[in-house]
Amino acid sequence: MITTRLKKKQIFTVTTFVFTFILIWRLYYAVPHPNSFLSEHSFDDARTHSYKYLINESGICGPFPDKIFLLITVFSRTSEIKERMAVRKTWGSLAVNNTEIRLVFMLGFRPEINHQEVKIESEKYHDIIQEDFYDSYRNLTIKSGAILRFANTFCQGVKYILKVDVDVFINLPFLIEELRKNNGKNMVMGHTLKSLVPHRNPKSKWYAESYPLTYYPNYASGPSYVLSGDIVGKLFRVALTTKYFYLEDVFVTGIVRERAAVKLVHHRGFTCRKPVVDICWFENQISGHPYTIEQMIDMWSKIKDKPCTWSVRIYYMWHNLVDWSR
Ligand SMILES: *[C@@H]1O[C@H](CO)[C@@H](O)[C@H](O)[C@H]1NC(C)=O
Ligand SMILES: *[C@@H]1O[C@H](CO)[C@@H](O)[C@H](O)[C@H]1NC(C)=O
Ligand SMILES: *[C@@H]1O[C@H](CO)[C@@H](O)[C@H](O)[C@H]1NC(C)=O
Repeated sequence: MITTRLKKKQIFTVTTFVFTFILIWRLYYAVPHPNSFLSEHSFDDARTHSYKYLINESGICGPFPDKIFLLITVFSRTSEIKERMAVRKTWGSLAVNNTEIRLVFMLGFRPEINHQEVKIESEKYHDIIQEDFYDSYRNLTIKSGAILRFANTFCQGVKYILKVDVDVFINLPFLIEELRKNNGKNMVMGHTLKSLVPHRNPKSKWYAESYPLTYYPNYASGPSYVLSGDIVGKLFRVALTTKYFYLEDVFVTGIVRERAAVKLVHHRGFTCRKPVVDICWFENQISGHPYTIEQMIDMWSKIKDKPCTWSVRIYYMWHNLVDWSR
């Protein structure tokens, strides 16, 4: 008698739980598709991107840009000389002496930083593009514009463009393998974020006072994403006729992409996961961030010297488990 009552109660609890879950799930997906929101508001604007090149490396994709498979553009601040060096020494070294890949660092200008130092770095590595806009977090969208302009002016015909932050580790061989399989056109590829609500707290790093809508359009997470080369001209033109919004990823891969009718492709290899220096994890990953210079170098030396084997894999599984439970 007691046991059947208990059973009934359990069944009731479980059923209620399941129904509540289904209800919440349905409500969640009843949220309108965010793309349709863009038409509710005018994002029209007319701007120019007339910043001057301080350093341009205009010949970097020459003489035949259409023979280049991947143009890597790394966002870095003018002051981040050591960070750039870490990229050059680690995953970025695979781009050196590679006829199909080019790697450049995109910089703005800071008056307090000795320009001569940047010049010397540029003359040594020939991988720096610098425009004269003020280099700041709020100006990152200008930096994206600089990438689009550079690719459109000097690298027309390249197959893909990778935008990546300087603290991201890229598994370049895997990325290239995946892009060759995909053969995508008219697309932005990355870690897709859907139906995100803008931050309305003025203290937030991502505070969106000027964004007029309830949701962001779907967009690719900013630290690393890929554009197919066929759309850079179109994106650049549309970007200049779209109201400036300082969150670079929302702007380029969300608002402008949507206005330019470019598709967004999700790839699970692009991640926003926290740094775990795990060489096995990277086997099927394209990107990870944020890494310090030391972690970047550590990871690179491990990947180079010790490929992922079953014993290493088990070690990291255990290591990550412990790490995750903290
Ligand atoms: C690129 O730099 C070179 C050398 O400094 C300069 O002669 C050329 O005018 C620059 N090109 C542009 C488009 O700024
Ligand atoms: C690239 O090639 C140059 C000249 O052949 C060579 O000195 C240099 O070590 C190479 N760099 C890398 C990273 O392979
Ligand atoms: C962005 O760059 C422009 C051009 O250099 C500059 O006038 C402006 O102050 C910068 N804005 C911020 C917020 O850094």
